[in-house]
Amino acid sequence: MEVTPVFADVDTGVDDALALMYLLAGADVVGIASTGGNVAVQQVCANNLGLLELCGAPGIPVSRGADQPLSCPLRTGEKTHGSRGLGYAELPPSNRRLTDYDSAAAWVRAAHSYPGTLVGVATGPLTNLALALRAEPDLPRLLRRLVIMGGAYDYRGNTTPVAEFNISADPEAAAEVFAGWAATAGGDEPHVIVCGLDLTQKVAMTPELLAELAATANSATTILSPHDERGTRSAAPNPLIRVIEDAMRFYFEAHDDRGHGYLAHLHDPLAAAVALDPGLVTARPATVDVELAGTLTRGMTVVDWSGRWGRKPNALIGIDVDPAVFFDRFITQVGVLARRLGSPNVH
Ligand code: RIB
Ligand code: CA
Repeated sequence: MEVTPVFADVDTGVDDALALMYLLAGADVVGIASTGGNVAVQQVCANNLGLLELCGAPGIPVSRGADQPLSCPLRTGEKTHGSRGLGYAELPPSNRRLTDYDSAAAWVRAAHSYPGTLVGVATGPLTNLALALRAEPDLPRLLRRLVIMGGAYDYRGNTTPVAEFNISADPEAAAEVFAGWAATAGGDEPHVIVCGLDLTQKVAMTPELLAELAATANSATTILSPHDERGTRSAAPNPLIRVIEDAMRFYFEAHDDRGHGYLAHLHDPLAAAVALDPGLVTARPATVDVELAGTLTRGMTVVDWSGRWGRKPNALIGIDVDPAVFFDRFITQVGVLARRLGSPNVH
């Protein structure tokens, strides 16, 4: 079976971590860029290195990105992801080291190493992707596909009334990325697929689905409940399931506090699944741009479905997904990884 080379740009928080697990289980992850977002960039780096250690991954190069967005201060998301980005989860210590080049350079190096075959997936602010595009304007042609978790298309925001977190954290970077991909939108269909909140909020992890994941990993567990004492730690014997449950418990609590219920939207794992199989979602071409100057609307992704701007479509907007199909893939792929890590002969 063809194993897709993937470069992941993440602001590792809870859902980014699950997306990385999915990619480690089903793709050839050739590099990881750390971007400040859910937590500051140095914590994202530590989370990425610790996660690779936990998953027994090979020596995948992890790079450190810019300390700040292009032109505004970083506003992080500890209330949703926890002080270190992974809820209540603890990662194992690791001797792994960061690359001596930054994340923008890492994007360019990976694209040149896998010309025309590399799939990029960005699940955090687009700061480092924009810096990479400045360094290598041909990046859109070098990548086979780019999938972005970001934006909200004809849909409410989760950071301002109209803006989604990844775009809102660095609107200038997002605008440069969408413009950069537009510049290469030649005759063929645009090859950046965006997964906005309108799509990703259709895939909600629940305690029952989390228990299915543990079962797939052959790990005992108890079903998490909103009636549990906050911060209760997982007793699952499987190391990966334990980390996932401790991270997800905080994420469930954060969603519950915002009125979503005791569940958690798997924004980034869906983007990762689309990176490996774009056919997982229904998508429509449109022209996307980002509001930079609006006093009420800064960071909003504005989508022109009907060519009113007279500009070629620069993105495929994901508009629908069958949650059952996604969760079947996610639970199978990550569950098998967890089972392998939990078996006694893995060292
Ligand atoms: O708005 C959701 C996105 O913002 C996800 O990628 C989450 O990890 C945060 O980065
Ligand atoms: Ca993210």
